[in-house]
Amino acid sequence: MADGTNASDVKLRCATLHDAERIHALVHLHRDELVPRPMGNIVENIDRFLVAELDGELAGCAAYQIWPEIGDPLKATVELQSVAVRAPYRRRGIGRLLVKGVMERVAPFRAKELMVLTLTPEFFASIGFREIPKTHIMHKLYAGCINCTKHANPFTCPERAMMLELG
Ligand SMILES: CC(C)(COP(=O)(O)OP(=O)(O)OC[C@H]1O[C@@H](n2cnc3c(N)ncnc32)[C@H](O)[C@@H]1OP(=O)(O)O)[C@@H](O)C(=O)NCCC(=O)NCCS
Repeated sequence: MADGTNASDVKLRCATLHDAERIHALVHLHRDELVPRPMGNIVENIDRFLVAELDGELAGCAAYQIWPEIGDPLKATVELQSVAVRAPYRRRGIGRLLVKGVMERVAPFRAKELMVLTLTPEFFASIGFREIPKTHIMHKLYAGCINCTKHANPFTCPERAMMLELG
């Protein structure tokens, strides 16, 4: 990336099936920070992914999942997932752009809040997320985290739970 490039040069768009392999590679590259996603999982959830492109390169991606079981079922909680920006493209606002893109994408659903489990709380705090107790998202812990191959217990997992109220 040329020096001086910033988020305004980035094209944010909905992912297509043509992006699936590059998304898979990006998520796999960040396997220490992200929940692993097999190719089949990415393909069947491709409509929940956004990608950030710069000069034809996939600079980053983000996805979401609605959890009606958390909070009010008719004003659901949306989880941010698979948020990643390739290392050479970082600290130029692309991560923030992706998160804002997901916020715009879910706004018509009238979701109540955006939730994330993360090892990078500073990034999400800079967007307005605040830390919440993991007990607030018990359904996610028992339906998702419990199947994690990295940690046996969601409460000893170092990931922090964070939440942002949506308008
Ligand atoms: C976290 C990540 C997505 C941030 O992407 P990014 O494009 O660099 O983020 P932005 O440039 O939009 O950062 C916005 C602000 O967040 C904060 N921030 C971003 N990365 C940070 C980090 N690693 N540590 C502390 N603060 C950070 C800063 O305040 C930054 O503003 P600044 O650059 O003006 O100081 C990226 O570092 C990444 O892909 N990490 C590996 C995967 C990962 O951990 N994903 C999150 C999983 S939930």
